[in-house]
Amino acid sequence: MTIPISLIEQSLELAAVGCDDLTPLVYRRLFSDHPETESMFRREPKDLVKGSMLALTIDALIDFAGERKGAFRMIECEVLSHDAYGTAPQLFRQFFWVIANTLRELLGDQWSPPMEQAWQQLLIELDRIVESNQTVQTVAPP
Ligand code: HEM
Repeated sequence: MTIPISLIEQSLELAAVGCDDLTPLVYRRLFSDHPETESMFRREPKDLVKGSMLALTIDALIDFAGERKGAFRMIECEVLSHDAYGTAPQLFRQFFWVIANTLRELLGDQWSPPMEQAWQQLLIELDRIVESNQTVQTVAPP
C-alpha cells in the first residue's frame, strides 16, 4: 500500500514551524522511554552527532515513504553498522516510534487522524525493513 508521503511531510513541516530543532525533544523522549540508550551516546555540548543522526534518519524516512531514490537504504546499512555502538536492531524500530510520538505531542491539535494513519503505516513498513535485516544477520555463513 502506498504511504501518503504528503501527510508525513506536512507533519514534519508543521513541527519545523513550531520548533527550531527536534533534537532535544527526540532524544529526551528516547532516553526516558529507553534509558539504556543514553550512555551509548557521547556527551557533547551541541549534540552535533545526535542532531546529524536524527537529520539523516528523517531524510531516510521521507525517502522511504516517498520516492525511494536511495536515502532509505541508509536504514539497512546503519542497522548493520551500528552493531559497534551496541545498538540492537529493535532500537531502530523504537527510535522511529520515538520520532513519531515526539511529532504527535508537538503538533497537538494539528496532528490529524489521517496523519496518524500515515505514520502508523510508515512505522509498520519500517518494522519490516528492520525485521528483514535481523533475518539477514542471523543467517549462518555457508
Ligand atoms: C535510520 C536510523 C539511524 C541512522 C541513519 C543513524 C546514523 C548515524 C550516524 C551517521 C552516526 C554518526 C557516525 C559517526 O560519525 O561516527 C550515528 C552514530 C550513533 N548512533 Fe545512529 N543512526 C540511526 C539509528 C540509531 C539508533 C536507533 C540508535 C540507538 C538508539 C543509534 C545510536 C547511535 C550511537 C550511540 C551513535 C554514536 C554516537 C556518539 O558517538 O555519540 N543510532 N548514527
